[in-house]
Amino acid sequence: MKLSRRSLLAGAAVIGVGALVARPLWHAIGAAAEPQPLRIPGLLDARQQGNSISLQVQAGNTEFFPRRASRTMGYNGNHLGPTLRVHRGDDVEVAITNTLKEDTTIHWHGLLVPAELDGGPHQLIQPGATWRPTLPVRQPAATLFYHSHVHGRTGVQVYAGLAGLLLVTDDEEQALGLPSEYGVDDLPLVLQDRQFEDGRLVLPSGMMTTMQGRRGDTTLVNGTPNAVARVPGRLVRLRLLNGSNARIFDLSFDDQRTFHWIASEGGLLEEPVEVRSLTLAPGERVEILVDFSDGRSVALETAPDTNFPMMMGPMGQVRNFAAEIFGAGNEVVLRFEPAASDGTPGVVPGRLIARQRADASQATRRRRFVLSMGMGMGGMMGGGMGSGGDMRINGRPFDMDRIDERVPLGDTEIWEISGEMMSHPVHLHGVQFEVLSRNGGKPLPRDAGVRDTVLVQEPVELLVRFTQPAVKAPFMYHCHILEHEDNGMMGQFTTT
Ligand code: C2O
Ligand code: CU
Ligand code: CU
Repeated sequence: MKLSRRSLLAGAAVIGVGALVARPLWHAIGAAAEPQPLRIPGLLDARQQGNSISLQVQAGNTEFFPRRASRTMGYNGNHLGPTLRVHRGDDVEVAITNTLKEDTTIHWHGLLVPAELDGGPHQLIQPGATWRPTLPVRQPAATLFYHSHVHGRTGVQVYAGLAGLLLVTDDEEQALGLPSEYGVDDLPLVLQDRQFEDGRLVLPSGMMTTMQGRRGDTTLVNGTPNAVARVPGRLVRLRLLNGSNARIFDLSFDDQRTFHWIASEGGLLEEPVEVRSLTLAPGERVEILVDFSDGRSVALETAPDTNFPMMMGPMGQVRNFAAEIFGAGNEVVLRFEPAASDGTPGVVPGRLIARQRADASQATRRRRFVLSMGMGMGGMMGGGMGSGGDMRINGRPFDMDRIDERVPLGDTEIWEISGEMMSHPVHLHGVQFEVLSRNGGKPLPRDAGVRDTVLVQEPVELLVRFTQPAVKAPFMYHCHILEHEDNGMMGQFTTT
């Protein structure tokens, strides 16, 4: 068995803090299993069923590894959910029935709908209840994300499997001739790191988990460990979602091939951008085109995880030491086995769609947000091991009964956001934004496009358009490290 570098690091982290029960350092059966064919979630196309979709939230067992059952949750199945496809211009009736023994919600991350339809913490679905929102789909084609958003247990429920993809399509996208045969040359890829012990999913908890977010030694793609995707020997579209609780992926191919980034969270870019690597933070999505016409096997990899809180200094040192000894190698996320092809290279369109650029001079107001975290007294005294985190925005932890910001509906504002201690993926509900600046300078190439989630450590300025009403319920803004969100790094705004 190959030594798992990350299980060593997890051990090092424990030594660094010296307060948690040490786990065996050399144990990572999850990393040592056989390749498995990539699972593809079923496709539920709303139009094919009269624009009505029903989802059942359920608990069950999943064998991630042969003969090793884990307790999991899913929508219409035991783990994760089907890919939902909706069409721009349609009104889609959704019925979500909660068969769990606990509360849940279902949030349409990235969908531009009024706040009472958003599925955030205020749209609670109690055990046995059914929630029936009708979703007006009025935005351009995009890859969106649905997941549980029940306050305080979002991290636990998403970790167990309550997540899926929501695809918006429209005529403009279809006219481009991009690869769009679902599961064949248009692949949904939900990336999630999870912790396994003896092949069974375990739920990390404790103060360290709160501080750094739940992480794991195994990367699943659509719930598949050691996944292998068979793809046609041509241009293939990958829709990547980082559905991890906390892990940031730095993705590239092991042969260093280039690929084309074609869509951000808000949908297609104006033109494809040729890159060799992409960072994907929790909550973020990208669509890329990869050319497999050379017929060669290739692996999508991620660089090692480096987003740990600065206060865990000793751990950082042990990590660096370990990286020196064992090599800071990349980790395979997904292997591709292309079918034979005639070798004709794929043709990437030169232009994608025209976008109306946002105009910063229209901004009527500037607001500032600082994300902060501390161990909290409970954590320091050793009494609060279950939580231990003290997560805040502008000095205040989340309060469901407090409206933090009131924005006039229809306005454009500049939101300036910065974070402390580590990088935080910040997500705003009910809006799309563009990144105006990063650290006082130009945004990164990866900040391009229309977005709903952005990775923040140094300050970013976002130009945000508030087009959706939040009258009957507020919208959320929060860190998408789910343990930060669950422990208070979240606020709410109305638009009236
Ligand atoms: Cu993806 Cu408020 O969430
Ligand atoms: Cu959201
Ligand atoms: Cu955070």
